Amino acid sequence: MSLVNDTYILYNGVEIPKIGFGTWQISNAAAYEAVSAALKTGYRHIDTARAYDNEENVGKAVRDSKLKREEVFITSKLPAEIKGFKAAQASFEKTMHHLGFPNLDLFLIHAPWPWNGRGRDCTEGNIASWKAMEELYRQGKVRAIGVSNFSISDITSILDNCGIVPMVNQIGLYIGHMQEELTEFCRKRNILVEAYSPLATGRILKSETISEMAKHYSVSPAQVCIRYLLQKELLPLPKSTHANRIAENAEMEFTLSAADMKILDAISE
Ligand code: A2P
Repeated sequence: MSLVNDTYILYNGVEIPKIGFGTWQISNAAAYEAVSAALKTGYRHIDTARAYDNEENVGKAVRDSKLKREEVFITSKLPAEIKGFKAAQASFEKTMHHLGFPNLDLFLIHAPWPWNGRGRDCTEGNIASWKAMEELYRQGKVRAIGVSNFSISDITSILDNCGIVPMVNQIGLYIGHMQEELTEFCRKRNILVEAYSPLATGRILKSETISEMAKHYSVSPAQVCIRYLLQKELLPLPKSTHANRIAENAEMEFTLSAADMKILDAISE
């Protein structure tokens, strides 16, 4: 059984497949094959960003798959460095041009600050960008809008100054790095939390506890990591460039016991 067809429902009623295929650090050249493999395996949710420089081949892979556009949930992101109403709208048009589609399922502000200025206060810019996202949503160009890498105070600024509550916050989450306070804050406001780097970019797969547990369930360590996040009602975005791993990461024919969930809860980074 694969979980790729199961969905969460965002607070505005839009369905989003519970596992997404992440494409961070997959080059435009490699993205075509990786996304094609993911779609062939059954994934119906692809996560990209303008900053990944692979939107073009993500779009091409979706088109060449012959799936109907509405059968695949596609997310992209406003680059972290681009802040402001007009700049956000112009960047959205570029994203749509790269992807080659007339509309998008989910559009996120990639980060509250530019990557070379982590932690910088860009509240005003984020509010202006968010107002542009709201406009795109109202115009029907995107089915849902959200943020990424936003802290509680970053989200609070949006809630206090804008009209639409973000539908999603995409953050780095994996066993040992679960950001409970932030995920709880989001949960209370019906903001779905998506987990990027659910395998800690591969680091966590070396954990002895996880490997032992994987043997017990006859699955791989990666599957344990992904299943753990799903059982916490989070949305994992695993990525791989290998077809066998892409398939494996969506095979979830097992359930971690409450006792094993507790053991994984206790792992610290
Ligand atoms: P590769 O692309 O060579 O398969 P994350 O999703 O946390 O960013 O982790 C991605 C990293 O984990 C990549 O280096 C990827 O390598 C590796 N990876 C993804 N899926 C698996 C898997 N099922 N088994 C082992 N390694 C995996």
